[in-house]
Amino acid sequence: MVSSAITQAHQQASEYQNSLNTVNGHEISNLDQVDPREAIWPTYSPPKDIVFEYGEGCELVTESGERYLDFISGIAVTSLGHAHPELVETLKTQAEKLWHLSNLFRVPKAETLAKKLCELSFADAVFFTNSGAESVEAGIKAIRGYFAKNRQPHKYRIIGFEGSFHGRTLGTLAAAGNSAHCNGFIPFDYGFDHAQWGDIDSVNALINEHTAGILVEPIQGEGGICPATEEFLRDLRALCDQRGLLLMYDEIQCGVARTGKVFAYQHSDIAPDVMSLAKGLGGGFPVGACLAKGHVAQCMTIGTHGTTYGGNPLAMAVASKVIELTTTPEFLAEVTRKGEKLTCLLESLCQRYPNVVSRVDGRGLMLGVECVVPNTEVLSLLREHRLLVGKAGKNMIRLLPALIVTDKHIEKAVAIMEECFQKLSDDEHKRVAVVNSVSESSK
Ligand SMILES: Cc1ncc(COP(=O)(O)O)c(C=O)c1O
Repeated sequence: MVSSAITQAHQQASEYQNSLNTVNGHEISNLDQVDPREAIWPTYSPPKDIVFEYGEGCELVTESGERYLDFISGIAVTSLGHAHPELVETLKTQAEKLWHLSNLFRVPKAETLAKKLCELSFADAVFFTNSGAESVEAGIKAIRGYFAKNRQPHKYRIIGFEGSFHGRTLGTLAAAGNSAHCNGFIPFDYGFDHAQWGDIDSVNALINEHTAGILVEPIQGEGGICPATEEFLRDLRALCDQRGLLLMYDEIQCGVARTGKVFAYQHSDIAPDVMSLAKGLGGGFPVGACLAKGHVAQCMTIGTHGTTYGGNPLAMAVASKVIELTTTPEFLAEVTRKGEKLTCLLESLCQRYPNVVSRVDGRGLMLGVECVVPNTEVLSLLREHRLLVGKAGKNMIRLLPALIVTDKHIEKAVAIMEECFQKLSDDEHKRVAVVNSVSESSK
């Protein structure tokens, strides 16, 4: 008995010693030969052989000098393209002065940017964050905080929508309620209910004495580029007003000039009480913001919320420049014009290659093309032809070029798509012919 216990202890000690000498099962002395990708959590699978060295406007360039046309922009982030000279200059100038203070001290650029965002929107006050999910979380807290401060703490539930996406923190996963993302991570009720997209009756049916607000993307992004109709937003606003709820928009993907208006909700002018921003706001520098009406913001008193990095001088300098450059009437008009041009060309591709792509949706330069063949195949083939696009729900490919995209870039991207769709269409015809001949011969 005793000797087997001793043997077991020796074995455990030796396993422990081995574990100290290994990383991911590889001997430390051999670590140079280990693929460094193994040191990253396997939550993404970027293409192994494409490594970008630098970016220039709408193009990304690999270590070996191959140029790719970037129509995904880091998922709607690099709104002014890569290495925009004014953003580079702004970042450099600020970097030489002051990087970080925390919110224990005033950051004047945060104050002026907040004031500007309020002037441009429905809002009266802003909370700055570092990412989209944090901005949504701040909004969720502000909605609940508003009712808690107004002696209605039982009102805490928020209605989200099927097909929505609000981030990857526990709260934002629960808000979107997508079971594929929640399973294994959200074991209990986080206080969200989920209505059908576009169906006001299903929203109405979920409202009870615990409901505090409604959270909606004016254009669903990840779920498959899907704009809410003006009527739906109007009905949501009316429902909130009648039932004493707060309305929150998530404009993390569709905001900041992406659709040709400063904010996507301005196409219908149906304002929310709270709104989250991120992505394009920093043009590639991590920053987010949660905007709110005064009566909501004033409930978020000292100690109710905070952030170490949010609103730091570097982010505020860059975001102020992005807002300055992207919100002029001329810039917005160009986004609209280029969006219409791209939409028109894409619709023509849908007509010519109906066995590959079926329809176009979206607004401005936030566009999706629904595929008939698997969207992953379309995306890979486009990438082989050096055009980078994204995927979205509903079997879509997502086009989010930088807002400074030129007509030439648009024409080039469409020419690449045409070449790829032609190939996919030919393959599809061949596949159908084989299937037909097999079914004929088996009759
Ligand atoms: C609409 C929307 N909300 C929230 C998020 C989350 O943003 P982040 O990844 O910066 O946390 C995203 C990101 O794709 C988004 O598209």
